[in-house]
Amino acid sequence: MYDMNRLSAREHVDFLVLGGGVAGLSFALEAAQYGSVTVLTKRQRAEGSTQYAQGGIATVLGADDDFQKHIDDTLVAGAGLCHRDAVEVTVREGPERIRWLQSVGVEFDREGDRLHLTREGGHSRRRVAHAKDATGREVERALLAACDAQGIRVLENAIAVDLLASSRLGLGGGNRVLGAYLLDRETGEMTTHTASVTVLATGGAGKVYLYTSNPDVATGDGVAMAWRAGAAVANMEFMQFHPTCLYHPDAKSFLISEALRGEGGILRNRAGEAFMIRYDPRKELAPRDIVARSIDAEIKRRGDDSAYLDMTHLPKAFLLEHFPNIYATCKEFGIDMAVQPIPVVPAAHYQCGGVVTDLEGSTSVPQLLAIGEVSCTGLHGANRLASNSLLEGLVFGRRAALQAKEILASVRGAPPQVPDWNPGDALAPDEGVVVTHNWEEVRRLMWNYVGIVRSMKRLERARTRLGLLRGEIRDYYWQYKITPDLVELRNLADVAMLIVECARRRKESRGLHYLIDFPSSDERQMHDTVVTRGDVD
Ligand code: FAD
Ligand code: SIN
Repeated sequence: MYDMNRLSAREHVDFLVLGGGVAGLSFALEAAQYGSVTVLTKRQRAEGSTQYAQGGIATVLGADDDFQKHIDDTLVAGAGLCHRDAVEVTVREGPERIRWLQSVGVEFDREGDRLHLTREGGHSRRRVAHAKDATGREVERALLAACDAQGIRVLENAIAVDLLASSRLGLGGGNRVLGAYLLDRETGEMTTHTASVTVLATGGAGKVYLYTSNPDVATGDGVAMAWRAGAAVANMEFMQFHPTCLYHPDAKSFLISEALRGEGGILRNRAGEAFMIRYDPRKELAPRDIVARSIDAEIKRRGDDSAYLDMTHLPKAFLLEHFPNIYATCKEFGIDMAVQPIPVVPAAHYQCGGVVTDLEGSTSVPQLLAIGEVSCTGLHGANRLASNSLLEGLVFGRRAALQAKEILASVRGAPPQVPDWNPGDALAPDEGVVVTHNWEEVRRLMWNYVGIVRSMKRLERARTRLGLLRGEIRDYYWQYKITPDLVELRNLADVAMLIVECARRRKESRGLHYLIDFPSSDERQMHDTVVTRGDVD
């Protein structure tokens, strides 16, 4: 029997879940009915994008709303690339998932006997259920508490380094995933964790860019590991930039929720002009890709450092009631949003592509599932509609658990025999500074060459530089003892390369991918960009 609170050198479990955000925990709570579950998180267990989610969860609850409207809004934002079946199941299963969250203890804001619904860009109706402006914190709190109450094991500081892909381990039979090699952040030891079903719920990759709304754990580990294990990855060119992150030298990654624009916030330039009308008739409530590009263009046109989100026409009591977290954080940085506009800039926010899955979370490699931001279910297409991602994690977390139950029944038997991690002649790392420099270089070059507006020339430059950097990182990886920083750097560089490869292949502009050489959409390219290990080295 294993220790509930730490990793043993070698373990077997029915369901190994990599990630403890909304997707991983939703999966775990359902799957615990069918078999043993271990959830791994690579830092503190609540740390991940989920707990920073602000706006809320989009779902059809309003009297003036219906499924078709939510489906249509999602399809419009997705610019022709959404998979209709994924949109249908997500939207239709949404209200039940909200009721489930309430049943596990999530307290949403209420208006009389109904939930209060806020509005965000691209939504034709008020449909975002929320807990003030810190919805994710409330969701993560309640899900972790429910896991504790059910005795589900959620470990901290356990970093998955690579998946146990049978083909890479030289085992017979077709390729399948048998678990993961893990690094214990506290002891520095490598352990081997086998499983009947391995579930990627590792979140996104915002840290690939220099400026991001994402927390430090968002280094694209799941996409990189899945790609190395032979799984198909798609649509990585569609990185969503959130239009409004706080612009302040000391504010690291603080988001100013889209709900502020939903409640009447106005974007102004430094001269005080409300500029969005010059870019789109929907102004502040145009889909995110359009608002982010408009801010980018306006800042560059005028040579300003930032744009400004003006809430000063709304009563202070309203701001304090609806946005207490944002109000207090801005105040800490000396900005009183009731009397002065908030300086804002766009920053990398959400990975719309990821590991390709079907509607049950199955990837192209047997016994490997993917859910939440790491996955590409087809819901988001070329641009995610605001507040559809917590919803996706909830819907697909449950669906994948039902699928995992079926897989478990089909693979029962003795745990697979896999070799332990081979450290070879690895030395203690002598030049940690190399890791820091390469990390910084990847993020800066992605920001400068593969950002909101792209060109083929810059994509080629990025590709050449990434090729050199990945070569250096590979040498370092095999020569020195593995550290958490090195694991993340390797993943970051692999994901950066996948973004560049997908972006090079899409010779048109669509949704979040804007290429100045091909400024229009091309009907012939209305399909996903799918890459596998053999396609890209
Ligand atoms: P996460 O919540 O990011 O969790 C990832 C987990 O994986 C963590 O536990 C991490 O430790 C673990 N992990 C990662 N790598 C490894 C590894 N190698 N080994 C072990 N564990 C690993 N969406 C909405 O729908 N509504 C919103 O209002 C909203 N607001 C947002 C605000 C902010 C500031 C941000 C950053 C995002 C927001 N989003 C919002 C997006 C949404 O929060 C995320 O897409 C969603 O929470 C992702 O959930 P997840 O379970 O996939 O991953
Ligand atoms: C926000 O509150 O603006 C974030 C919503 C989202 O990313 O879905």
